[in-house]
Amino acid sequence: MTLLAVENLSKSFGGLMAVNEVSFDVEEGSIVGLIGPNGAGKTTVFNLITGNYQPNTGTVLFDGLNLVGKPTHTIVERGIARTFQTIRLFQNMSVLENVLAGCHCRMKAGSISAMLRTPAQRREEKDAMRHALAELEFVGLVHEWQNKAKNLSYGNQRLLEIARALATKPKLIVLDEPAGGMNDQETQDLIRLIRAIQERGITVLLIEHDMGLVMRVCSSLIVLEHGAKIAAGSPAEIQANPRVIEAYLGVDSE
Ligand SMILES: Nc1ncnc2c1ncn2[C@@H]1O[C@H](COP(=O)(O)OP(=O)(O)O)[C@@H](O)[C@H]1O
Ligand SMILES: [Mg+2]
Repeated sequence: MTLLAVENLSKSFGGLMAVNEVSFDVEEGSIVGLIGPNGAGKTTVFNLITGNYQPNTGTVLFDGLNLVGKPTHTIVERGIARTFQTIRLFQNMSVLENVLAGCHCRMKAGSISAMLRTPAQRREEKDAMRHALAELEFVGLVHEWQNKAKNLSYGNQRLLEIARALATKPKLIVLDEPAGGMNDQETQDLIRLIRAIQERGITVLLIEHDMGLVMRVCSSLIVLEHGAKIAAGSPAEIQANPRVIEAYLGVDSE
């Protein structure tokens, strides 16, 4: 079943076509990689899917709903969570508080009951705490729960962003360069984590420059260059595609 269908998506910034008529599908339960040289438009595609930018044309069908024009909080509630290429954490808050911020989108108690601290609200807070700790355990950071986010290593900050995204209970998680700044060991652990996310039934769409990681974890790849999709297929097909090799090596086609 197709979980996400991106159709003819375009986005320009001034005269620059950052994303040009891009279409692709993401099957439920798959791990799909979006790759391409720097400036190809990968992060912009993510920003269009997650409602951070509005496209000039095109649709983003997710679970039967067109997300175009929907605010980011609605998109999160519908089941898409993301991490950022440039880490965005509440640096001065604790690791646990950062994950609780993700849990909040699923909490029902309104501001009145929050002020009155009703039993229902206390129960919800306790559940959120348990859930946040479980996500920290899942990414291997539970021992750091009291530490401030800014005190974590770069690799662990990336894991914390993943835990926060998982805390929103997504159907689809989109990861923008999750291995960026990670050492070899951390990257190996990340590969295991991405597979474990898939085993939970969560679909994964990721941007990544580490080709070793991409080739090992992704079931299919989409390649962008200068805003346009130039290829799509299995990792083996993409590795053997002359157009892709050219894009990466910067060989002139003439
Ligand atoms: N908010 C923005 N304003 C203007 N130009 C942008 C903006 N975001 C991205 N771009 C431009 O769009 C192109 C694609 O950027 P991006 O999607 O970040 O590429 P990638 O993630 O593949 O490296 C680049 O030329 C970039 O400079
Ligand atoms: Mg990018």
